[in-house]
Amino acid sequence: MKVLIATQKPFAAVAVEGIKKILTGAGHEVALLEKYEAQADLVAAVADAEAMIIRSDKVTAEVLAAAPKLKIVVRAGAGYDNVDLAAATAAGVVVMNTPGQNSNAVAELAVAMMVFMARTQFTPATGSEVQGKRLGIQAFGNVGRLVGAKAKALGMEVLALDPFLTDEQIAAGGARPVHSVEELYASSDYVSIHIPALPATIKSIGYDLISRMPKGAVLVNTARKEVIDEDGLLKALEERPDLKYVTDVMPDNYALLQEKFGLRVFATPKKMGAQTAEANINAGLAAARQIADFFATGNTRFQVNK
Ligand code: 3PG
Repeated sequence: MKVLIATQKPFAAVAVEGIKKILTGAGHEVALLEKYEAQADLVAAVADAEAMIIRSDKVTAEVLAAAPKLKIVVRAGAGYDNVDLAAATAAGVVVMNTPGQNSNAVAELAVAMMVFMARTQFTPATGSEVQGKRLGIQAFGNVGRLVGAKAKALGMEVLALDPFLTDEQIAAGGARPVHSVEELYASSDYVSIHIPALPATIKSIGYDLISRMPKGAVLVNTARKEVIDEDGLLKALEERPDLKYVTDVMPDNYALLQEKFGLRVFATPKKMGAQTAEANINAGLAAARQIADFFATGNTRFQVNK
């Protein structure tokens, strides 16, 4: 089978080598499309692909229509909001993710971002310490649990909200359960967001929630820019000169936020949460194994469009 690795933001070379080794060892052919500039390049590259490994690359209905032989797409990572699942299902294409494989890298970045903002973006201005502060984790999945464990090691008090988990499950993960998003924001000096971008979560974090945060609070977003209502964020930051926002998913209104709020806001130039050699190896090799296994045995364990 012909497997296309399509990564606008490439994997580390060592991960690409590992992926190739697994797939060629299983008798497949591998093609590589990295750092492409236009969506048209992806559309052209999928013509003969029977499988794809992607990251945040956009697998739209147009891409799927251009890939008549495609059987499986594996998103090497957690979030699959970049894949048109309805179009994939209609085309009979299996879509999988690789849950948990890049979580530690994202969790480390979330913790680093908290310290970075506490220390006023590493400027000489007097900062604060995270020890003794409360961290609210919004969604206690693979990333959220790791953020909680690392924050506890820094002496933070950890609260978590997750409608899909029981209080016992949250407590077993080392956090104090809270039962509403309003309570989470009102009780947390730091909130770290780990929800996916879904119709129900898009623009769900706005003025009402952000302005409930206590004095000096910091909102940390390593999830998706779409979950923030940017007008509401702007209004909350305008009204409350004590609040801060740090993110790995650049807001559309970042230039304006920077101009108005300076060191109170920070966004990485390009999403880098999962950009470690370890995460690339974990997620990339897992994707390759899932594809090899799918063609060898029909295993669809990580399918997300069932
Ligand atoms: C994910 O959903 O796994 C993360 O957002 C990482 O995305 P990336 O592979 O584009 O870095």
